[in-house]
Amino acid sequence: ISVDWDAVTAEKGGFDHFMLKEIHEQPKAYRDTMLGRIDASGRKVVLPGLKLTDDKIRSINSIHVVACGTAYHAGLVGGTAIEQLVRVPVAFDVASEYRYRSPLITPETLVIVVSQSGETADTLAALREAQANGAHVLAVTNVVGSSIARDADDVIATLAGPEIAVASTKAYTSQLIAFYLLALYMAQVRGTKSPEEVAHVIAAMQSLPEQVESMLANTDAIKTYAEQIAKHEHLFFIGRGLDYAVVQEGSLKLKEISYIHSEAYAAGELKHGTLALIEEGIPVIALATQDSVLEKTVSNIKEVKARGADVMAITHEEHVAGLLRSVDQAFAIPQTLPLLTPALSVVPLQLLAYYASLERGNDVDKPRNLAKSVTVE
Ligand code: G6P
Repeated sequence: ISVDWDAVTAEKGGFDHFMLKEIHEQPKAYRDTMLGRIDASGRKVVLPGLKLTDDKIRSINSIHVVACGTAYHAGLVGGTAIEQLVRVPVAFDVASEYRYRSPLITPETLVIVVSQSGETADTLAALREAQANGAHVLAVTNVVGSSIARDADDVIATLAGPEIAVASTKAYTSQLIAFYLLALYMAQVRGTKSPEEVAHVIAAMQSLPEQVESMLANTDAIKTYAEQIAKHEHLFFIGRGLDYAVVQEGSLKLKEISYIHSEAYAAGELKHGTLALIEEGIPVIALATQDSVLEKTVSNIKEVKARGADVMAITHEEHVAGLLRSVDQAFAIPQTLPLLTPALSVVPLQLLAYYASLERGNDVDKPRNLAKSVTVE
């Protein structure tokens, strides 16, 4: 007998594309990134090997999060988690802008650079700019032997395993886990969250892998929706708070591999211009998971519905029935803490991009004009 075999097919492990394989590897990536970083009691974060001392953590008076592309989007969520849990102001920069705007960096600034590859030229240059100004630079990266990992003062490794598809998925979600761990660790040191509050977040984090597995077990509804949107040339994503951070990633993912033009808008900002683009039949994807702003998001959904948009909402199970009064269809994600929701809500957006790309007959793993790692300015 002869068996058809080639190395690339074997590496895809039964999946049609690396991207789909990597989406399915996320539960493992979550577990691996948490492994050894939560103590035996399950109530405390430990970060072995971290050079950032407790005194240093207490002296930090500002944090800059700097990265490119998907890593920047992970930084938006992660920096928000730090600001919420640690109560230190956080600024966000895309790395290609950072060093040219004369950022205010002092020895009391913690600069967090985020990079899957650890080789992105602009991110590396941002790291150098920060160090030259006396900041402590902490890298969140997936490649421990990379230039960024070597040059940073500290590294928190994401343990996503090699990521092959150009469109980043499991690296993004592992970066979120790394940020949540760092935020909790800093909150422990600075005493901004009680041990009970920290334990509560940790317990919710430990449920995330299974919750992602449950979402990946049935992707039919997202696939059907992706086939619908694949016919369109333009669409919008809206959300508030952390939902806004996540839709920016969802929009980038869709652009990268489906080549559909999309924009992600802070839902409340639509009426300041973009609402003019909403016309009959245009798809609007609303991420509505953040309870504290849910009502506000619903009123923004009504604004686009009134102008003929076709709205799909992604929300927690408990809100589906209520939202279905205002939207055309709704997709439920499992319940978790609002702060951790991005680690779940991004998954349907990744799948949406994947299936839309597939439907359009694109090269999912190697989109036109893009490179996995950008080592030139
Ligand atoms: C490229 C990739 C993106 C990635 C970005 C940053 O543009 O195509 O997927 O998010 O670089 O890469 P990094 O390795 O620094 O995370």
